[in-house]
Amino acid sequence: SFRSSFLGVGTYLPERVVSNAALAERLDTSDAWIRERTGITQRHIAGPTETCTFMAVEAARQALARAGVSGESVDAVIVATATPDQAFPATAVRVQAAIGAGGFGFDLSAACSGFIYALSVADSMIRGGAARRVLVIGSEVYSRILNWEDRATCVLFGDGAGAVLLGAGPADGPGLLSTHLHSDGSFGDLLFVDGAVGLREASGCLQMNGREVFRHAVAKLAGAVDEALAANGLSYADVDWLVPHQANKRIIDAMGKKLGLAAERVVVTVDRHANTSAASIPLAFAEAVEDGRIRSGDLVLMEALGGGLTWGSALLRM
Ligand code: ACO
Repeated sequence: SFRSSFLGVGTYLPERVVSNAALAERLDTSDAWIRERTGITQRHIAGPTETCTFMAVEAARQALARAGVSGESVDAVIVATATPDQAFPATAVRVQAAIGAGGFGFDLSAACSGFIYALSVADSMIRGGAARRVLVIGSEVYSRILNWEDRATCVLFGDGAGAVLLGAGPADGPGLLSTHLHSDGSFGDLLFVDGAVGLREASGCLQMNGREVFRHAVAKLAGAVDEALAANGLSYADVDWLVPHQANKRIIDAMGKKLGLAAERVVVTVDRHANTSAASIPLAFAEAVEDGRIRSGDLVLMEALGGGLTWGSALLRM
């Protein structure tokens, strides 16, 4: 049997940066409100050529380059996204073609928890021997599904992509220790985007009950991190890094506090990226790996909650 080890990370952020002040010029909001409630100061917004596929390919190429391996050596591509460019084919097969990978590719829909879900699926495939090298990508263009007149939602999100290359390593080596997935569809109306291919009467825009999502986030994420540590016989004190989904600084702070982690042990990008949904964890993880914060041997805890509701956690030894 195998363990999924981390071979390389890559990211892409759109060139255009939009500050809170720029939003306040055309919406009834302010830099102070957005900062205080969310910790967000700016977000990257995709231009017309910065599609979901384009960003996924850029992040994938960077992950491959950093791992020092070719696209042909990849035998599965999984893209977590809620904002694909086309209904089909999947973003993942576009990426597969662009990098010259063999094997297979597919997209996965679990909103903001998409990256944790994709990691979990990739890990099962690697452990079971169905794939030896898997690219796991989160790529999102939420700017296309936001109602830019709704100040309660449009200030919260940004665009971007992050990729992680997983490889089959020895079962007692570094890598993913476990993943834990949950969903509860009875909360499906707390956060959703209506509309489907060919359905014209829908708005196609994200709608959210922010207060309720916040309430569920803190409780459910606490359960998911406890579950991940208990499954591996580990405790809060063993965690070196928390790499949370980046929705909101207040949710992130609550989780860091629960774990008893010093603020500098929590990787935060929400201030600069806002919420990039399935891309937020790989973007944050890649940043901390590349700047040397996360090092070989460190225990890293990831967690996310999003539309569905979906939520989950992943624990890894670097
Ligand atoms: N600027 C100024 N005022 C605003 C803005 C804005 N951008 N947005 C809302 N307001 C106003 C509201 O209209 C309301 O005014 P009222 O009292 O006159 O009616 C007031 O601010 C308070 O609104 P609330 O929605 O109650 O504000 P709250 O303190 O709950 O903060 C927020 C809103 C930041 C969305 C919060 O609920 C939250 O963080 N929720 C978590 C949801 C989340 O992060 N979702 C992301 C996707 S899910 C995920 O990834 C986990």
